[in-house]
Amino acid sequence: MKSKVFAGIALLGAMTLVATACSSGAGGDSGDGGGGGDETITVGFAQTGSESGWRSANTESMKTAFSEDEGFELIFNAADNDPAAQISAVRDFISRGVDAIVIAPIVEDGWDDVLQEAADAGIPVILEDRTVTASDDLYEAWVGLDFTKEGVMAGEWAAETFGDTPTKMVVLEGTTGSAPANDRAEGFAQAVEGTGIETIDSQTGDFTRDGGKTVMEGFIQKYGIDGIDLLYAHNDDMALGAIEAIEAAGGVPGQDIQIVSIDAVKDGMQALIDGKINYIVECNPLLGDLAAGLVRDVLAGEDVEKTHFVEDQTFTQEQAAEVIDSRAY
Ligand code: AHR
Repeated sequence: MKSKVFAGIALLGAMTLVATACSSGAGGDSGDGGGGGDETITVGFAQTGSESGWRSANTESMKTAFSEDEGFELIFNAADNDPAAQISAVRDFISRGVDAIVIAPIVEDGWDDVLQEAADAGIPVILEDRTVTASDDLYEAWVGLDFTKEGVMAGEWAAETFGDTPTKMVVLEGTTGSAPANDRAEGFAQAVEGTGIETIDSQTGDFTRDGGKTVMEGFIQKYGIDGIDLLYAHNDDMALGAIEAIEAAGGVPGQDIQIVSIDAVKDGMQALIDGKINYIVECNPLLGDLAAGLVRDVLAGEDVEKTHFVEDQTFTQEQAAEVIDSRAY
C-alpha cells in the first residue's frame, strides 16, 4: 500500500506531486508495492450501491477480480445511490493513500474536483461501468458498455414491432443524471424517430424494482392498462417491478402492454422466456477482470487506451430460452 508514502508526499509542493503522478501513472520504481511487483496492490472501489440484480453481479465480478488471491487488497464502498456519499468515499480513499481508485460513478456530473484531488495525490483513477462529464485527462481509463447503442438496439426492436402504428409508450428511466439513463433515452429516441411511437409519460424508477413498481402503478392509474401499449424500462429490475404493477391491476404484461428492457439478468431473462417481457438488450456486468487488468497495467507504467467498450447482445424469447442456463448472471 502506498499510504505511508503518499501521506507524506501529499503535504509537499507541486513539483513533488508531479513526480508522484509520474511514479504512479507511469509506473516509476517507487518500491512500495503499487507498481506491479509481488506486493499487494491496494485499491479503493467506489460502487454506486446495490440498486439492481445487474449491480450485484457487477459487485461480485469486481470483488473476485480484486481479491487477495489476485494480489489485491480491496477497500469496497457502496454509496447507496447517493452521489455526495460516493464522492466522500473517494476522498477517503485518497486520504488513505491507496495505490489506485476505481469508480462506478452514480451520476455523470460533479467529478472534476475530486478527480483533480486524486490526480494531485498521484493516485490513478479507473472508471468502470458509467462515464463522467469531467475531462478525460483526470482519469486513466474507462471500461464499460455503450449505453447509447443499448438504447438504439431497444428502439430498433420497438420501431420494427410497432412501425407506423400509433403506439402510446411510457418510460421507466434510470437514476436521473446517470450516464445509462441519459444515453439509453437518447439512443432509443434516435431509433424510433419517424415511427408511430409517442412517449406519453417518462419518469425515473431509479433502476430499482420498487421504483419501477411504484411509478408503473402511477402510470396505470393515470392512463389505464388500455391507454398504454408499450413500456421501455431502462433496466430489467424496473421492468420486473412494472410487471407486478400490471398484474396487480389485472393486466397481462407482454400482451396488454409490451415491454422492452435492458440488462439481461437472470430474472429478466426468465420473464422474457415467460412472455412477460418481449425483448431484452444486454448490459454485461462482468467488468472486474478488465478493470483489474487496467489497474495493473497503469501501475506498471504501461500506456493504456482511454476507453474500453464491452460488446452487448440482444435477446428474443427463443434466444433467452437457449442461453439462460449457461449464463453467469
Ligand atoms: O450502469 C449500469 C446500470 O446500472 C444497469 O443497467 C442497471 O441495472 C444498474 O443499476
